[in-house]
Amino acid sequence: MQFDLATARADTPGVAHVVHLNNAGASLAPRVVTEAMTAHLTLESTVGAYEAAERAQSAVGRAHHAVARLLGARSDEIAIVDSATRAWGLALASIPLKAGDRVLVSPVEYGSNHLSLLHLAERTGVRLEFLPVDANGLVDPAALEQRLDDRVKLVAMAHVPMHDGLVNPVARVGELVRRTDALFLVDACQSVGQLPVDVREIDCDLLVGCGRKYLRGPRGTGFLYVRSAVADRLTPTVAGLDGIQWDAGGYRFAPGARRFETWEANAAARIGLGVAVDYALGWGVERTWQRIRTLAADLRADLAAMPGVTVEDRGVERCGNVAVTFDGLDPFHVRGELLRAGINTWVCLDNAACQDMRQRGLSRLLRISVHYYNSESELERLRCALDRLTTGSKATVFA
Ligand SMILES: Cc1ncc(COP(=O)(O)O)c(C=O)c1O
Repeated sequence: MQFDLATARADTPGVAHVVHLNNAGASLAPRVVTEAMTAHLTLESTVGAYEAAERAQSAVGRAHHAVARLLGARSDEIAIVDSATRAWGLALASIPLKAGDRVLVSPVEYGSNHLSLLHLAERTGVRLEFLPVDANGLVDPAALEQRLDDRVKLVAMAHVPMHDGLVNPVARVGELVRRTDALFLVDACQSVGQLPVDVREIDCDLLVGCGRKYLRGPRGTGFLYVRSAVADRLTPTVAGLDGIQWDAGGYRFAPGARRFETWEANAAARIGLGVAVDYALGWGVERTWQRIRTLAADLRADLAAMPGVTVEDRGVERCGNVAVTFDGLDPFHVRGELLRAGINTWVCLDNAACQDMRQRGLSRLLRISVHYYNSESELERLRCALDRLTTGSKATVFA
């Protein structure tokens, strides 16, 4: 069945103003998301914020159910927080780890996650090691199997990294980790909304994501999936009224993922997240994923054929995040010129995934990330603009 691009674009007011190829940063929101959020902000300013939340209780509470449905989880296995970094950090800090425990992490891990682990290793004596990767840059399950022993207490990996189109084999790793006592923490920040993500299929214990990227939800939203069977092994470092059951007999953390939530929440953002996830489910992630894959594959092929352009992505199955460098041209210069031409892209610095980028001698690259609502003619505009840049003036030389 042909993809209904006309409806996708009609639902997205931003496409009338910009060629948005920074979806791995934050996507253009569909109209329904913006309208639901602005309606709630208006209500807050009219009747009072607590009172508005009471009136909109089911819309505010929808986010947990929608995210759970998206991930194949139960709603009590979902905590909603303000970013993926927060979700990841909360999860890590709750895991009982001690000196000598081994923690394995993917070399493409997002910079903030990597930093949290470095900090943890410094404070506790936990041993940090990188997961083995194959020639395509993918975590290598066969090599990993050899490394797993009973001192490994945590395996953490990015499903899709920030700076590359590769899609890591999370389900195969999940299968191996499940045979041990280690916990398996997946960063699905770039994959949720872009490709199907099912926590039971991946068999992870913990998974984080955010609303603003491929889910097309609001900024300042993130979530944490906690497998119900492991929740009681996790002790949150922050005790908030929503995450605690407190009575005359004492206090205990709430069951499931709710133990990671406090009381305060941005109600409009939660509403927007729920609407965005329902909107994504309405399209069907499998269907939109096919479109993203096709658009990105065609774009990669065209870019690879352009003189002076190198496609840096690895992996076997590749997603909508396309990473490129240019002979003699600074990605910042290219991004600036594209911005002037009405085309949004992004520059990834090596602190985004320092282990991987520094090892490959990449200090920065241009990330062009496509979503299903991008049109073929938008990509043609990008190709023409890049063609002009790479064959034209090379005034700003990449140092
Ligand atoms: C792979 C990956 N993980 C985690 C994050 C952090 O997400 P947030 O900015 O919501 O904390 C990002 C952000 O770009 C990311 O790309």
